[in-house]
Amino acid sequence: MVALSGAHTIGQAQCFLFRDRIYSNGSDIDAGFASTRRRGCPVNDGNGNLAPLDLVTPNSFDYNYFKNLIQKKGLLESDQVLYSGGSTDSIVTEYSNNPSKFKSEFAEAMVKMSEIRPLTGQEGVIRRILVLFPKLPGVVESSQIPQTDDSGLGIGIGTVAEE
Ligand code: HEM
Repeated sequence: MVALSGAHTIGQAQCFLFRDRIYSNGSDIDAGFASTRRRGCPVNDGNGNLAPLDLVTPNSFDYNYFKNLIQKKGLLESDQVLYSGGSTDSIVTEYSNNPSKFKSEFAEAMVKMSEIRPLTGQEGVIRRILVLFPKLPGVVESSQIPQTDDSGLGIGIGTVAEE
């Protein structure tokens, strides 16, 4: 996840997606960076205004994205959370010091991501919304589906396989 997020070394994001963060006055954002970004992203306007995801080299695939995170200058909350006192801090630090490691692990993760396959045919049912459904005779719920109570209703959040 950390390596893949490094894709944010290029590209931009729209104001409405980072507005909360830059106006939060939180401790996980550099005050100067927040103030600069506020200029291009007003509180009540400019939803579509763009800012670079990597403020240093927005058009180069490099490791500045990780260096920014260490300085609390990640644009999106989902970027900064990778360096916020948690278990991924050490990976961010490592990538910020070792660009070739970042690049090779990014490539590896991209290949893995390309191998993710959706369930098709009889392999399962993907439910778009949380639904209640009655237990049907001859149908077993997979272990992914927690039971609600004894009323005969289960919560469908995963796959249902026929016996
Ligand atoms: C935690 C997972 C991720 C989250 C929450 C996330 C979120 C976002 C958001 C909110 C934007 C801005 C979109 C906009 O303003 O319209 C963005 C842009 C972008 N993301 Fe991600 N992203 C994630 C993972 C990835 C991954 C895995 C890749 C590629 C491997 C990626 C590549 C990009 C690129 C290149 C842009 C810039 C697009 C542009 O400038 O047109 N992101 N992402």
